[in-house]
Amino acid sequence: MKAVRIGKAGGIDGLEMVDLPDPGRPGFGEIRVRIHASSLNYHDYGVVRSHAPAFVDRIPLSDGAGEVEAVGEGVTEFAVGDAVVSTFFPFWSDGGPRVGDFATVPGDGVDGYAREVVLRPATWFTHAPQGYSPIEAATLTTAGVTAWRALVGDGHLKAGDRVLVLGTGGVSIFALQIARAMGATVIATSSSDEKLERLRGLGADCTINYRKVPDWGSKVLELTDGEGVDHIIEVGGGATLNQSVLAIKVGGHISLIGVLAGVSGEINTAAILARQAVVQGLIVGSRRQQQDFVRAIETTGLKPVIDRTFTLDQLPQAFRYQESGAHFGKIGIVI
Ligand SMILES: NC(=O)c1ccc[n+]([C@@H]2O[C@H](COP(=O)([O-])OP(=O)(O)OC[C@H]3O[C@@H](n4cnc5c(N)ncnc54)[C@H](OP(=O)(O)O)[C@@H]3O)[C@@H](O)[C@H]2O)c1
Repeated sequence: MKAVRIGKAGGIDGLEMVDLPDPGRPGFGEIRVRIHASSLNYHDYGVVRSHAPAFVDRIPLSDGAGEVEAVGEGVTEFAVGDAVVSTFFPFWSDGGPRVGDFATVPGDGVDGYAREVVLRPATWFTHAPQGYSPIEAATLTTAGVTAWRALVGDGHLKAGDRVLVLGTGGVSIFALQIARAMGATVIATSSSDEKLERLRGLGADCTINYRKVPDWGSKVLELTDGEGVDHIIEVGGGATLNQSVLAIKVGGHISLIGVLAGVSGEINTAAILARQAVVQGLIVGSRRQQQDFVRAIETTGLKPVIDRTFTLDQLPQAFRYQESGAHFGKIGIVI
């Protein structure tokens, strides 16, 4: 079985293609999955380039989609031939958040999906949406479920709401698509005018170049008649949160998802107070939220935006492409 591991040298150039023993037949409660695809997230990039000794020999990539090849005794949810997709938190099945670290996350605390075959408890997967290819399904585990939880699961998005998405990475593009599919209007930002045009093609009602308009929070207020937006997909963190607080409506919901622009910063707490805004940190979501999103995809026909695909042996090139920031939406890996 072919797999990619993080080598002793660490980093993107330290990724090694290896041959591992076949994992064999599934035991009680397990399924054997032929992984056909994965996709890259900023988190995967962080793990691979960290050079942390704990990651030596780790099989990276949190997202995995493929086909069930065999089911163990006691498995009733899946059958041979089913299309499945992995979950980010294998032990968080339902209810409110209960995991605050990455110790159980495939591709971080445990081995991930940069490999051809896995044996795993059936509960580590859900069904993939009907009509999705493996490469499409592989975009859901991290980026898709995060956007779904932020806007719908926790944000209680409704038709007519206004949503602000920052940048054109995997999470933000999913958020734009979910918002449009559910009847919300969207303001989207990017550092690139060419990407802004593509955002409008996907249904963004208004767009702002955050490089050219550093005070984009005021621009959002202007675009919303001084009211602000109901939801913000905040992927910037320290250096963008004050602008988001400016752009949020009184009583609005800011999903603090990423720290692309800094892990800390001086935050205008008085403005958060005055806005009576909810600033919610969140990490991906539960298996139930993934199942809910799969069902929503099947009824809305939402399809992920996949910028480029690479093969498993091209994983270093795929990470270099991600690092360049040229991508729009997801980067797929065919396995
Ligand atoms: N909490 C969670 O559950 C969770 C889940 C997934 C991801 N994340 C985090 O969310 C962030 C995005 O992840 P991703 O996988 O979607 O990343 P990605 O696909 O690699 O997207 C990165 C994009 O973010 C945009 N960006 C960079 N700096 C920005 C800034 N200062 N302001 C606005 N946009 C900026 C850029 O868009 P343009 O090129 O258009 O400027 C860039 O292409 C990362 O910090 C990641 O760790 C968190």
